[in-house]
Amino acid sequence: MKTHEIEFIFQESDKKPVTIKAVEGESILEAALDAGIHIQHNCGGVCACTTCHVYIEEGMENLSEMSEKEQDRIDLADNVKLESRLACQCEVYGRVKVLVPDQSVYLGH
Ligand code: FES
Repeated sequence: MKTHEIEFIFQESDKKPVTIKAVEGESILEAALDAGIHIQHNCGGVCACTTCHVYIEEGMENLSEMSEKEQDRIDLADNVKLESRLACQCEVYGRVKVLVPDQSVYLGH
């Protein structure tokens, strides 16, 4: 099984950077949850909310391309930037560095 590193950094200052391994083709969200890193996913990872919004600091080319569905959905997220993705929708095919925005504003999981 091929694996790739994902480095997570966090906007919340009390959270330290952490690097994990993702199985090729797994989503950033799945890999994070498997490794015990909490990323909000209020819709359960089906591209129907925006709580799993993250920024790809490095390695955007190592992710699956953005679908139209993801594109439409991500427009509804706060502070959308060029490097914005929905963690549940992008599959990992190489090393990436992910910035997780402050998620303390969200309730639930
Ligand atoms: S978890 Fe809802 S869009 Fe990703």
